[in-house]
Amino acid sequence: MSLSRERLQEFESGLDPLDPMSSRIPCQILGYGEISTVLMIDNDPAQAAKRMPLFSTIKAAEVYVKHYGTYCDRLREAGLNVPVDTTMLVNGKGSLSVLYILQQQLPPERFCHKLIHTESPDYLREMVERISGEIEKVWNFNTQNEPQLKLAIDGQLSNWVLLESGELYFIDTSTPLMHEEGVEVLDPELLLQSAPSFLRWLIRWQFLDDVMSRYYDRRLVYTDLIANLFKEQAAQLVDPWIAIINSQCVDLMEPLDRDQIESYYREDKLIWRLFLGLRRLDRFIKTRLLRQRYEFVLPGKIKR
Ligand SMILES: Nc1ncnc2c1ncn2[C@@H]1O[C@H](COP(=O)(O)OP(=O)(O)OP(=O)(O)O)[C@@H](O)[C@H]1O
Ligand SMILES: [Mg+2]
Repeated sequence: MSLSRERLQEFESGLDPLDPMSSRIPCQILGYGEISTVLMIDNDPAQAAKRMPLFSTIKAAEVYVKHYGTYCDRLREAGLNVPVDTTMLVNGKGSLSVLYILQQQLPPERFCHKLIHTESPDYLREMVERISGEIEKVWNFNTQNEPQLKLAIDGQLSNWVLLESGELYFIDTSTPLMHEEGVEVLDPELLLQSAPSFLRWLIRWQFLDDVMSRYYDRRLVYTDLIANLFKEQAAQLVDPWIAIINSQCVDLMEPLDRDQIESYYREDKLIWRLFLGLRRLDRFIKTRLLRQRYEFVLPGKIKR
């Protein structure tokens, strides 16, 4: 990993989250997360830097780093391919601590949400069978470690990378959701950091439990994976993939059902659209009316 801490601190100090491309140190956006922005910094094609401006104390960031490391170790122990990574903590504005997860960068065109538009149906059938095989490794790990440990996984297509060599990577490790002795390790308040402050009470009350628990549940993880095909404009894959997953999970879960997946997608789309709109409003209030800094980089219009 080539980026030094000093260089990263310089990048963070010169970053305008409203216009990340204007930084003195060059950067490009590789992807947007809910709580992170994925950047290529200093034209370094070897690294994807996930910026997480979430922590009001260094201690809180260090706790997160520890859980993050444990989560990656456990995914690897379960048998998943997780890219090489390291973490760096730098000072943000005021007393903010900003965590960067520096992960080996993988080719954007090999992400599975891209491959669904370029590869043949046969290739894609094998691809989804392999993704499901990886997800099942997590459930097997959980069964073997019951009741002490339970890992969650977000199985969406944009979290998997299938290289030409045939290697399949899981990259979405920056939200380390796991239960130890039945207790969630991740502080839910961290997930709320990116939400508008005027909405946090509502999200805490209505949505947080749902978001924190869905990735532990086999049927919900597959529902989420397939529902995402609508967002990715690949509705033609929905029926064939339901059949593939159902045949791989006979006796393991109640079969997936297209109507349920469609209604899950409609609700999800509405919530995320609303949420992003309100984040933009929050940014407007903070930056234009209150003349404060807004730490998160928000995506432009997303086609759903
Ligand atoms: N290692 C990587 N190499 C290249 N691009 C990446 C890499 N990691 C992430 N990306 C890009 O950024 C997108 C979002 O990444 P990731 O899945 O880690 O974040 P996320 O799902 O939004 O996470 P969170 O919600 O936890 O913040 C990916 O779908 C991909 O397009
Ligand atoms: Mg992701």
